[in-house]
Amino acid sequence: MIAASILSANFARFGEDVEEVLSHGCDFLHLDVMDGHFVPNISFGPCVVKGSKDATGGKVYLDAHLMVSEPVKYAGPIVKAGAHSITFHVEAVDDPIAAAREIRKWGCHVGITLRPMTSVETLYPLLDEVEIVLVMSVKPGFSGQKFMPEMLAKVRELKKRVRPNQRIEIDGGVNHETVKAALDAGVDWFVVASAIFDAPNRPEAIASIRHAMK
Ligand code: DX5
Ligand code: ZN
Repeated sequence: MIAASILSANFARFGEDVEEVLSHGCDFLHLDVMDGHFVPNISFGPCVVKGSKDATGGKVYLDAHLMVSEPVKYAGPIVKAGAHSITFHVEAVDDPIAAAREIRKWGCHVGITLRPMTSVETLYPLLDEVEIVLVMSVKPGFSGQKFMPEMLAKVRELKKRVRPNQRIEIDGGVNHETVKAALDAGVDWFVVASAIFDAPNRPEAIASIRHAMK
């Protein structure tokens, strides 16, 4: 599945952008919440999550990626605004198992993720707590960065350990050239921002990613 990351959407015509990518083959939306503290960028919070829900009539899965220092604090407002999943960074909390359980109380899917520099082993004790494991293939904070192919080793290790009902997601630098290696490594969900939203022809860009996955 392809998740369109709205970080690269044009917020002046947000509804049209979202409608365009969903009607041309993106499966759901990926929402990058950044607090300017965990990462050196500020993006948006619950009001844009709510806007995403309204723009899609509540019919599209909203996958929230929290790049914030206090994910447990913000999970509730983001779920209430319409997110179906909350993925948090293992580096942001002292006790990731407790954090996952707290977040689950909001009735959402729970995901765990890690910065490129964090070892994949850090995630192993958490795998029983989550539905989603997100591998960052760029440094979190900005769209438009170059894919780090060495992160696929993490995907391969995770693939041996996840259950069939869990999803491996990859985020950062995914485009028609990098998607195939990620697919072969075992990725289920592909987050794409700039390769779609910054393309001169978005339907063609989505089609070329889909084509590369065949
Ligand atoms: C980066 C975000 C990504 C970002 C991906 O911190 O988590 O979701 O939007 O952007 P691209 O696809 O341009 O690398
Ligand atoms: Zn993301």
